[in-house]
Amino acid sequence: MSITVLYIICTKSFYIIDFKLNLKSINMKETITRGSFLKRSAVFTLGATAIATGAGLLIPKSAKANTNRAWPWPYVTLDPELARIRAHDDFWGGNACCYGVFNGVISLLKDAIGEPYDTFPTELMIFGHGGGAGWGATCGTINGGAGVISLVCAKADSDILVNELFGWYTQTSFPSTISNGYAMDHLFGIDKFDGDLVQTESGSPLCHSSVTKWCNEANIAVDALERKERCARSAGDVAAKVVELLNEHFAGTFEPGYVPPESIATCMACHGSTGTQHNVASKQECVSCHGENPHGTGVFVGKVKNFELSQNYPNPFNQATTFEFSLTQPEKVTLVIYSLNGEQIKTLVSDQKFSEGKQTLKWDGRNEFGVNASPGMYIYRFKAGDSMKSLSMMKMK
Ligand code: HEC
Ligand code: HEC
Repeated sequence: MSITVLYIICTKSFYIIDFKLNLKSINMKETITRGSFLKRSAVFTLGATAIATGAGLLIPKSAKANTNRAWPWPYVTLDPELARIRAHDDFWGGNACCYGVFNGVISLLKDAIGEPYDTFPTELMIFGHGGGAGWGATCGTINGGAGVISLVCAKADSDILVNELFGWYTQTSFPSTISNGYAMDHLFGIDKFDGDLVQTESGSPLCHSSVTKWCNEANIAVDALERKERCARSAGDVAAKVVELLNEHFAGTFEPGYVPPESIATCMACHGSTGTQHNVASKQECVSCHGENPHGTGVFVGKVKNFELSQNYPNPFNQATTFEFSLTQPEKVTLVIYSLNGEQIKTLVSDQKFSEGKQTLKWDGRNEFGVNASPGMYIYRFKAGDSMKSLSMMKMK
């Protein structure tokens, strides 16, 4: 088995220094200690320093000279897998997730470039553990990763990369299969637990959501060793991602991959900066906290009373029912039927233009697939322009 320790990209050519560790020939425990990794990578530190300062590529103009600490600070291409191992091990050093990711990457830069990375204590990131001293707010791994990004990128680029990191985090299962594999093969320097761990996706940047979903899925208590190891492996995953993003960014090959869930756009159409409410600034998935039907039923939501919606008839009903509404002016109308647990059952019309006056729409009781929906309570949400209202109904057969 071999591990590529460091890549260095130069202006004219592409060098890959492939340092092969023959794991079979070295004592296992000796191979995986952090100290021995550092010793092994030390030989490249010299090379990296020489090439980084000589070629100047990847180093922002403002910080070209090593002694110049002007922000943003210099960056050289790093090995994501080394960052994964260091972040995992730094988690266990006692300062946890946020520090783990931050120091995991910064220590590589320190090895490669030295000044200015040896001029400040990376312990400044300790605060982020447990989502901020245990508050369960922003996950410390992405907080630490974002700190690295903002140190080496000016605001515009930093915002793009941090957005990508947070978005990726919400849609990724942790710990990754790679990190689970490293632990099982004893490739991390600190070996607290070498079993496979359940993987969960949180849909949220919150420590609380991420940790608790995992604990429930794994059926493991929040203060158990396995949960901590889960966060240590996740720190490794995030550190590796940060390095990948920065490598791509400085090589000019970065392409955003995060696509926000559609439901956010639905809410932000009214609550965002271009909507009628104009009172929410967030990229988090709204429905995970507010539910699919945040406005309750029977409440008119809107600034201008541009429609009347009456109760469907008949209600309760067997197979078919009719919705009657009237518009004070021509509007785009959407009528969607949901089950009580928020599942979308049928869209009767979507952004369809209706003229003013009285109108009716009919539902045959069938879902999007033409199958008769099961008996029970349903909610229908009616939207005309920027206003809306939800009501409930009872299907008998
Ligand atoms: C069609 C425009 C519109 C859309 C779409 C919309 N809202 Fe609202 N929302 C409003 C308006 C208007 C109010 C203010 C209601 C009031 O003051 O009574 C409101 C109020 C709220 C409130 C405050 C609680 C309340 O009932 O007053 C929450 C929470 C909320 N919206 C969340 C959401 C979420 C989450 C979504 C997406 C699933 C969403 N909204 C989609 C227009 C909208
Ligand atoms: C992590 C959970 C969470 C997420 C995600 C979230 N919210 Fe909220 N939101 C809250 C909490 C908590 C409050 C405060 C509620 C209170 O004090 O009554 C709130 C308040 C609001 C309010 C004002 C409610 C009021 O009583 O006036 C609106 C509107 C709202 N959120 C819309 C949104 C929208 C739109 C999104 C998606 C972009 C969103 N929220 C995402 C938790 C969340």
